This record gives sequence, C-alpha cells and structure tokens, in this order.
Amino acid sequence: MGTYSKIYQSWKDNPQQFWAEAAQLINWDKPWDNIQTTHNGLDRWYVGARCNTSYNCLDRHVKSGRADQTALIYDSPVTGKKKQYSYKELLEEVGTFAAVLQNQNVQKGDRVIIYMPMVPEAAIAMLACARIGAIHSVVFGGFASPELATRIDDCKPKLIVAASCGIEPSRIVEYKPLLDAAIRLAKHKVEKSIILQREEHVVALDNLIDLDWQKLVKAAKKQGQKAEPVSVLATDPLYILYTSGTTGTPKGVVRDNGGHMVALNWSMKAIYNINPGDVFWAASDVGWVVGHSYIVYGPLLQGATTIMYEGKPVGTPDAGAFWRVIEDYKVKSFFTAPTAFRAIKKEDPEGEFFKKYDLSSLEALYLAGERADPATIKWAEKHLKIPVVDHWWQTETGWAIASNPIGIENLPIKYGSPTKPIPGYDVVVLDDEGEAVENGVTGNILIKRPLPPGCLPTLWNANAVFNEKYFDNFKGYYETSDAGFIDDDGYLFIMARTDDIINVAGHRLSTGAMEEVLSGHPDVAECAVIGVKDALKGQMPIGLVILNNGVDRGVDNIEAECKQLMRDEIGPVAAYRTTIIVARLPKTRSGKILRATMRKIADGEAFKTPATIEDPTVLTEITTRFKEVGLC
Ligand code: COA
Ligand code: AMP
Repeated sequence: MGTYSKIYQSWKDNPQQFWAEAAQLINWDKPWDNIQTTHNGLDRWYVGARCNTSYNCLDRHVKSGRADQTALIYDSPVTGKKKQYSYKELLEEVGTFAAVLQNQNVQKGDRVIIYMPMVPEAAIAMLACARIGAIHSVVFGGFASPELATRIDDCKPKLIVAASCGIEPSRIVEYKPLLDAAIRLAKHKVEKSIILQREEHVVALDNLIDLDWQKLVKAAKKQGQKAEPVSVLATDPLYILYTSGTTGTPKGVVRDNGGHMVALNWSMKAIYNINPGDVFWAASDVGWVVGHSYIVYGPLLQGATTIMYEGKPVGTPDAGAFWRVIEDYKVKSFFTAPTAFRAIKKEDPEGEFFKKYDLSSLEALYLAGERADPATIKWAEKHLKIPVVDHWWQTETGWAIASNPIGIENLPIKYGSPTKPIPGYDVVVLDDEGEAVENGVTGNILIKRPLPPGCLPTLWNANAVFNEKYFDNFKGYYETSDAGFIDDDGYLFIMARTDDIINVAGHRLSTGAMEEVLSGHPDVAECAVIGVKDALKGQMPIGLVILNNGVDRGVDNIEAECKQLMRDEIGPVAAYRTTIIVARLPKTRSGKILRATMRKIADGEAFKTPATIEDPTVLTEITTRFKEVGLC
C-alpha cells in the first residue's frame, strides 16, 4: 500500500479521488452522481449510488469463489456450543430470515430493534435487515427495560427480534420479562416480536404478539422462501445505534450504506492488515459499535472469517480463554478493550496461560474503547511479542480516527498515544476560543469537515440536535468531546472527555443519565455522579447524594436502593455500586456543580480551587468525606 505519510498526503491532496478509488472494492448497483455533497448542513457520500450491504457481505463472496470458506465462527464457552457457517450457509440463513421479515410486512425503511446476546442469529438478523433495506437498531443485553423503551419510542420499530435469554457466567439473563416491560413502558406500540428460543431458557410466548424464530424459519425454508437483496441508496440508513450523550436521552447514531461499506472495507486491510480469507476476531458485543463494525460488517465485507465469542476474558473458564480461541481458529488480528486485558493480568499476572497455547498465527493486537494505559500495553507486548496497537474511535465515527495503520506501515509506537490520524481524518487541537494550540498543549480535539465515509451523517430524526451537538461550538469542525494534544512528531494523545461521559469497562455511560435516575429516589434532594479511576474497569461511577431534610432512614438502605434503582433503570452494565451521602456539593456562584474538581480529588490529582466557587470550604468537606469512605 506504500508508506503512511505518502498515503495520508495523497488523501489530503485529493480526498474525492482517494475515496473513489477505495469504492472500487465495493459492488454498486448504480454508480454515484456526486461522490460527496453538503446539503442543509449534512455531509453525504456517494450521492445517487445504489447498493446493498448484505449483497456485498455475502453474495459477492459466494459468487467470487468463497462459498465454502468459513464466514462466521460461533464459540460459546458459556453454553459449551460451537458452530461454523460458510459464506454459502450464512447467505442461506440471511436470505431466509430476510424473507421471514418480509412475511411480517417489514419493508425498506422500516426499523427493527434487535435485542439479542452474542449468538449467530444476532448477525443473521442484522444482515437480513440490511438485505431488505430495513434499518436495524441493536440494543445491548445489559440495558434494562426503560433504556429499551426509550429506544423503542425514538426509532418506532415495526418489529423486535429478541432471544429468550442471554447468559452471563453468574446467571441467565431473562430477556423476555425485560422486553415485555419495555413494550409496556413504551408509547410506541410494537406490533410483533420474533423470539429466538434458546434451550438454556425456553419461554412461554404471547400468542398476540410473539412469533417463534425457529418455527418461522422452518416454514420459510420448507417453502423455499428467500429474499433477494433490495437495492437502496448509498445514503439510505443501514442502522441506528444509540449511544450515551450528556443527558438521559441516548443519541441515535445513523450509519449509511455506501460510505460505511467503503470505509470498513478499506480499514480491514489498512488498519487491521486483514486480507480476504484471513481470520479476524473482535472480542466485543454486537450491542456496541465495535461489534457492528468489526464482528459483523467489516470482516464480512472483506471476505474474511469473523468470530462471535459468547464468553468473557476471564472465568469462562479461566484467564486463558482468549488464547484458546486464538489457537483454535488461527486468529491473525485480534481486537479487544484494555479493560479485558487488565482483567486477564489480574488473574494471571505472570502470564502463565499464554505459554499453554500456540499463538503463532497472531500478528497484532488492537485495543480501543478507552485509553490503553502504557502498563497494560507493555504487559501485552511482553507476553505476546507482537505489535500492540492502541486506536481511538467513537460510536459516531464507526471506525478508527487514529491508529497505527499496520496494513500500510508499522509506525513506531509511543506509549499512551493511538499513533497518527488515519487518512480521511484531518485532526486539529484548538483552545476554547477556537485558536490552534501549540504542539504538546492540551485542547479540544476536532476533525475538519467533512467527516470521511462511514461516519455518522446525522442523528436519527434529529438533524438540528446533530448540528448543535457536534458542529456549533467550532465552525467547520466536528467536535469529538475528547481533549488531548498532538506532539512534535504528529502523534495524537487522547487524555479525557470534555463532557460528562465516563468509560466503565470499555462501556460508554452518561453520568447525566445516572443523575436523572438518582434524582428519582424519593429521599434524594440533590445529586452528582462522577467517574473515578478504577484499576480494572478504567473508571467507576460514584454517586454523591444530598438527602431531603428530615430523612432519618438507615443510610445503608438508601445506598442499596440507589444501586438497585440504577440496575432497574439503566441496567447492570452501569456497574453502579457506590453512593456517598454528603451534606453539600461544591458549586460555582451560578450553581454549576463542580464535578471535574471532585473527580480530581477522588483520583488524587492536583486541582485548583475554581475562582468562581461559591464556598471553598465545601471542597474540604468533600475531601474529608472521600477519605472517610476510603476513596482517596
Ligand atoms: N447482558 C446482560 N448483562 C451484562 C452483559 C450482557 N450482555 N454484559 C455485562 N453484563 C452485566 C454483568 O454480568 C455485570 O453484572 P453484575 O453486576 O450482576 O455482576 C454488569 O453487567 C457489569 O458488567 P461489566 O462491567 O462488564 O463487568 P464484569 O465484571 O462482568 O466483566 C470485564 C468485566 C472487564 C471482563 C468485561 O467488562 C469486559 O470484557 N469488557 C470489555 C468490554 C468491551 O468489549 N467493550 C467494547 C469496546 S472494544
Ligand atoms: P464509544 O462511543 O463507546 O466508542 O466511546 C468513545 C469514547 O471512548 C471516545 O470519545 C474516547 O473518550 C474513548 N476512547 C475510545 N478509544 C479510545 C482510545 N484508544 N484512547 C482514548 N480514549 C478512547
């Protein structure tokens, strides 16, 4: 592919030509009229082109000789099951399920929510939606009913596809009661649900709205029903993926069809060094963007083999779980979150499990979801003896903004940096006034418009919010809400979020949403949620709560209730455990709670008392309180 700097420059000199060339790898039903346009503040790629994502992920490879190559491997240590699908078999399943959806009158443009664990049927449902032009919205299984209900009301699905259960190592997660409660809570009335019955927990179906996945598929197969790919515009939405914002209402990140295919296909080689036929594994979940891009779409677009792993880095059964999968399937590039590595390191500090497996197929490890701390990278390098790549991206972008592009050139690593911007991304650092800062000085990290193909063209039903949130503060730039700096060699360093988003075990969570939940407790007068450093999960949420006057119930009860409330309203994924009752919260004179200052106190970082503070003695009280509970 040439050297990184040459390729980056060639993109900068002529972005349209660069993305026209990358698009040659994709099969188009009709070529584009304009490669890139901006209308009403929205940037679009491959305007006027027609295509189908499922065709490009499946049919294209079957036709070009990959029919018998393994497309998808399912490996589930939590159930003891394993299964493999060739490209031909996966196409058969996707075509059939797409016909099942059409039989339920799901048509192009209709939304379908997918609420499923890490089973192949989740990928089959996603690709089936793509096949008929329906827009899927996958909801992570660790979210509770109210979160699911919010998403139902926002995207108004015609149908929900769910499984009877998910399986966590410690328990069966019963999806059906969660789904039923969400449907009851939502204002939008869902007409039908298709339920995949898992033998680990079979549920009773409601005759009025529930349909049985297995029965529908069997009937469709008996009649030989299969849906052909429906041609959609490159700019038509492929999916909506909700992600945490600063408020309790999640944002529906939209992904288009054409730009998404071009960007992911290009990234598979340039970033992950994956060629058709190679085995790629992203140990994430289909409920997150990593799962969308690099469990399902990216590897299949490239004609590679992908792995769906229903297990954890540790405990299923031990800290060698990842190495067993890499040996079994000869994985070439592996992608996971730093927190997973920290979990392994905690269980196996001397790296004994690495020695038990043949890891000779593995050429590179990729980490994302949170900043990869240098200690974790060095530990991984020591035991794997391959490049360990920290790369930075967001649900919004759908693929990496910065990475060591191993498929182009293996650049020298700088610990704590996700290396350099990827072609497509012109990254700058500006101060709050919009002035460029010098190299090495921390500021707002921004990306010059237009964002490259694959990035969100808008938020679902919220063009105005999209422009306000991402483009209002710095004209001509996309605001990443990450702060950091660029050094003299052009390496990026991502240091912190500039908003109230926290990162817990690689999961993006909104402290604003958590505060809304705590405020709903009848004894809570005021509250703040902050993310404090955690050796395993990166950050953990801590709730600081002022009780209503006269509340004299046991503090232990209130703390337990807050924890349960968070589980019921947001879900176990919030990992909310700690509530600290305080007498006052530090505020500015205009009433803004000083969350960042409290976080610094808890993390033991140096902090300046803000000049605008209403009463500086509150900070002393908070410090004392944190010490009492052993936080600092
Ligand atoms: N469905 C239902 N519940 C889920 C779930 C799912 N898909 N995923 C997690 N949960 C639950 C867990 O069981 C846990 O519940 P508990 O409070 O009853 O114990 C809770 O949510 C918190 O989960 P988590 O924060 O993931 O902690 P953990 O102790 O179960 O696992 C790690 C810790 C580090 C092993 C795990 O978080 C991990 O593998 N993280 C990687 C994340 C990732 O891949 N992110 C994507 C970016 S690459
Ligand atoms: P998500 O949308 O869940 O992918 O989370 C995106 C956010 O996670 C980013 O805005 C960053 O704050 C953080 N993040 C993801 N990857 C990295 C990384 N490699 N380094 C630093 N922060 C990261």
